[in-house]
Amino acid sequence: MDVARSKPEQSRGVIERYRDFLPVSDSTPIVSLGEGNTALLYSAKLSAHVGRGCEVFIKNEGVNPTGSFKDRGMTVAVSKALERKERALICASTGNTSASAAAYAARAGIPCVVILPAGKIASGKLVQAFACGAKIVALEGNFDDALRIVRELGEKDNFAIVNSINPDRIAGQKTAAFEIVDALGDAPDFHLLPVGNAGNITAYWNGYREYEANGRSAKLPAMIGFQAAGAAPIFHNRVIEKPETVASAIRIGNPASWKQARAALDESKGSIDIVSDEAITDAQGWLARNEGIFVEPASAASIAGLFKCCESEDASRSFKRIPERSRIVCTVTGHGLKDPDLVLQRAAALKPVAANIDNVRRAIES
Ligand code: F0G
Repeated sequence: MDVARSKPEQSRGVIERYRDFLPVSDSTPIVSLGEGNTALLYSAKLSAHVGRGCEVFIKNEGVNPTGSFKDRGMTVAVSKALERKERALICASTGNTSASAAAYAARAGIPCVVILPAGKIASGKLVQAFACGAKIVALEGNFDDALRIVRELGEKDNFAIVNSINPDRIAGQKTAAFEIVDALGDAPDFHLLPVGNAGNITAYWNGYREYEANGRSAKLPAMIGFQAAGAAPIFHNRVIEKPETVASAIRIGNPASWKQARAALDESKGSIDIVSDEAITDAQGWLARNEGIFVEPASAASIAGLFKCCESEDASRSFKRIPERSRIVCTVTGHGLKDPDLVLQRAAALKPVAANIDNVRRAIES
């Protein structure tokens, strides 16, 4: 018996939810892992920290399918690559883009090559790319070297580049701004986020502008970006030849979307600032212990940045006289499990105790 079957229901990803705003058509084969629709969490503690009746929300992008915001852009980039009948994908990465590209390539059934700075990728991210069957090339060089080579391979060897220099990536990532406006009923007043290759700040700003132009929001936020102090080319307005930071995801000295990020900062009357490695790791610990949100170091740059805006005299933007009842959104970009090594190093070594209640009681109290 031939029973007509409709497609089974599955979780909708960002393309299904925001199709009208994305460069797809009915003939685009959709490659999705159910990305997006991530939690926007109100933080009473951070709100109290800012004071003046302000509200702080955390957009937790670590709960995407591969544990970072990259999945929003990858669903669009890989779907479009399939539509164009590309033969293979390629990307340079500090880790998260490669994890996401590997997963979406596997789902699409298309080969994927990732070029990574040797020895500089957090273990959780490397594991993801391996598990999903990507061809991994470890480069004696940094992310900026890797991206330079990927650009050449894209031109000469006919690979589809799925870094954020691909406009389909930026298009997908802007859906995070849509979700925030949909949840809050309007855009926030300030949006804080980490900046590395500067694709995400570009994407958010595109999203906010597009939603405002469509009457979905009445205002636009000031975009406030944070770079790691040792990898802060936009802040210093010069290429950093040897970027260094514990936040390996944003260890980038020559961001590809530098110009677009500059435009987003200027047009939104925002600002760019730096946070030290110590402030980043402190903020990572604070967020895990006080809100139960475990993020990777780069992600904590937005929270470290919020603290800096509240406390430091030399912050690029002081929140001391912030307009009352302002709404602030901080994006945290990637899951803490991707980069557990730093936390494990700091944790005290665990000594096993004998299996009886007295020893366990003593261990609890020690
Ligand atoms: N946070 C995380 C966790 C990231 O992985 C990245 C970038 C950023 C922030 C910065 O975003 O580059 O759009 O300004 N990671 C890229 C990668 C470079 O290869 O995974 P951006």
